[in-house]
Amino acid sequence: MSETPDLRTAAQAVLDANRREGYTAPAPHLYPHQWLWDSCFIAIGLRHYDTARAKQEIESLLAAQWHDGMVPHMVFAPDFEYQADRMAWHSAGNPASPDHIATSGITQPPLLAEAVSRIGSKLPRAERIDWYRVIVPKVVRYHQWLYSARDPFMTGLVSCVHPWETGFDNTPAWMEIQRSRRLPVWLQVMAHIGLVGQFERFRRDTREIPADQRYETADALASFAAQRRLRALRYNDAAMLARGPFNVQDAAFNAMLIRNNALLLKLASAAGVTVPPGLRASFTQAKSAFQDLYDESTGHYFPRDLSTGNLVPAASIASLLALYSGSVSKERAAALVKMIEDEHAFGPDFPLPSVPVNSPYFNPKRYWQGPTWLNTNWLVADGLRRYGYREYAAALAEISLELTSKHGFYEYYHPYDGKPLGAQGFSWTAALTIDFMHTQ
Ligand code: GLC
Repeated sequence: MSETPDLRTAAQAVLDANRREGYTAPAPHLYPHQWLWDSCFIAIGLRHYDTARAKQEIESLLAAQWHDGMVPHMVFAPDFEYQADRMAWHSAGNPASPDHIATSGITQPPLLAEAVSRIGSKLPRAERIDWYRVIVPKVVRYHQWLYSARDPFMTGLVSCVHPWETGFDNTPAWMEIQRSRRLPVWLQVMAHIGLVGQFERFRRDTREIPADQRYETADALASFAAQRRLRALRYNDAAMLARGPFNVQDAAFNAMLIRNNALLLKLASAAGVTVPPGLRASFTQAKSAFQDLYDESTGHYFPRDLSTGNLVPAASIASLLALYSGSVSKERAAALVKMIEDEHAFGPDFPLPSVPVNSPYFNPKRYWQGPTWLNTNWLVADGLRRYGYREYAAALAEISLELTSKHGFYEYYHPYDGKPLGAQGFSWTAALTIDFMHTQ
């Protein structure tokens, strides 16, 4: 590509503009805090030109690790102007929350082992081992927390307690689940007297981004209501699973966890860190339990809603993340690749859509209900490469680079015409552009 050096410079400029004290914000204005999986993707890009900063991106996340091992999905910026965000979560209500650091009370896709291994590959051997010795025990504790706190009945699959934990905030399955629940009384009243529309005026996101590219207001309100419920339960895991608004085994989250379990075992052996036998057993069990989320009739992986025990048949990119997990058979991988080839499924002109285009829920502009995102392209490309589909992985990298070189670094893109959508100057899009340029 002739514009390659410029693209790299432009991507680095985004990461510089979003740089904060010890971390990189996902985007200016809209996302000022530190987010878990964002920082993992960001570090994967940073490692190509600034390993010290890549390490710091991960260290600042882990500095906010809870005493019980959880790594929170958000670490709040300390500035006075964000007092309301910190208070809305009130993480100090849980005794395991970290001292003097305000965080959210839930987690996000566990991609730490991925980020740490990628950074490690860029470090000289001695520095790598020294760094692993400090970092890897913390990641082991995190995975230990995931299985003990979020899979207390040892099913092999961990539960998410809020849509925001999955990273796919408004994917159709979550909206279906939320809509099937009784809304809290205050929200019912608001809906009844027609006040839901008024809430629009207070939304930070729709002040910056057209409303048809974001959550529908009623769905956003239900998610905020669910967060308030978790705060009332003080983010106590047992209480959230038993009495919270959401208890779901997400295929995407578990797929990412399974791959990161495997990477963690490698990291631990490189660093001489022990992984307890019970945890190793969970890692093994996870791979077979994951297949319980497969739906033979549609060929998709679906989430299981533990409040009903049923799979929620709303297809999404989660199906393709099974490739990233590395735990599906070659035959099943081939069937998933067929869906990528199919223009009516995951193969429109600018793939991969976050929901297949033949889904009744598909909406090409709305956030996680159809647009193409670079982080999922990156994860699926990585999986494809490991299953031997190198050309497909290269094509995804090329399309991703085409999107960013043509339009800049947006949060997501229209899967039919590639037009940019959502927040501008989005960090993981910039970071993964840099990484795609290296892996092509
Ligand atoms: C949105 C996304 C989530 C991301 C966060 C910060 O909430 O849905 O996945 O981590 O923004 O970019």
